[in-house]
Amino acid sequence: MAILQCENLSFGYDGETVLEGVNFSLNAGDYLCVVGENGSGKSTLIRGLLGLKAPEKGSIRFGDGLQSTEIGYLPQQTQIQRDFPASVREVVLSGCLNSLGRRLHYNADDRARAAMNMERMGIEDLADKSYQGLSGGQQQRVLLARALCATKKLLLLDEPVTGLDPIATGEMYNLIKLVNLCDDITVIMVSHDIHAAVRYATHILHLGHEQLFFGTSGAYKESSLARRFLGGGRL
Ligand SMILES: Nc1ncnc2c1ncn2[C@@H]1O[C@H](COP(=O)(O)OP(=O)(O)OP(=O)(O)O)[C@@H](O)[C@H]1O
Ligand SMILES: [Mg+2]
Repeated sequence: MAILQCENLSFGYDGETVLEGVNFSLNAGDYLCVVGENGSGKSTLIRGLLGLKAPEKGSIRFGDGLQSTEIGYLPQQTQIQRDFPASVREVVLSGCLNSLGRRLHYNADDRARAAMNMERMGIEDLADKSYQGLSGGQQQRVLLARALCATKKLLLLDEPVTGLDPIATGEMYNLIKLVNLCDDITVIMVSHDIHAAVRYATHILHLGHEQLFFGTSGAYKESSLARRFLGGGRL
């Protein structure tokens, strides 16, 4: 059964369409990589899936009982976010915000969920440290733990390895794949790293102001689009 179905979606800003013709569906447990050049509409689509941006046209349907408030999200990073003045524990706990409902404070369940996700990401020793004092790789693990507090079903990750060194990048990819495989969490990841995309993801969505490709990683590898995008390089 599809966990997500997008039909004839388009998005725009101030009446100008920036992305159109998006049609794809994902089943639970799929791992989708969204690729495309700068400005091709990747982050706009992610914001649309989160319900933060309304489509101009088309529909987004969730299956498997998923609500848009039950999606884990790791946003594309800005310097302001990197300088966020809070402890690691507070940042991870803030992933439980959507489940607070009418409560004013986190409860024991929220704290246990945050502790479990810090442990899964190997950052439990950093819990009392200041988030802004961490390395880029440590910060991204914290944000992944935060996103995991928000969901059991669907994770949206917008360029989670940008700025990380090759070792931290590999660790991050492995953690994401582990979450996908072991917890059966559907993953949608925006990335500029096509080699990693076809290696880790089950499906690829290639955007260029419209949908240029959607299909399995294997089919994408064989496509002329992938070859063109890589400038003749081999996958
Ligand atoms: N808040 C906004 N107001 C107006 N135009 C916007 C806004 N956000 C994005 N755009 C425009 O929409 C288009 C798609 O932007 P988007 O951020 O979705 O691209 P992207 O594929 O995520 O790019 P990048 O790889 O640089 O992150 C671009 O032309 C961008 O200038
Ligand atoms: Mg973007």
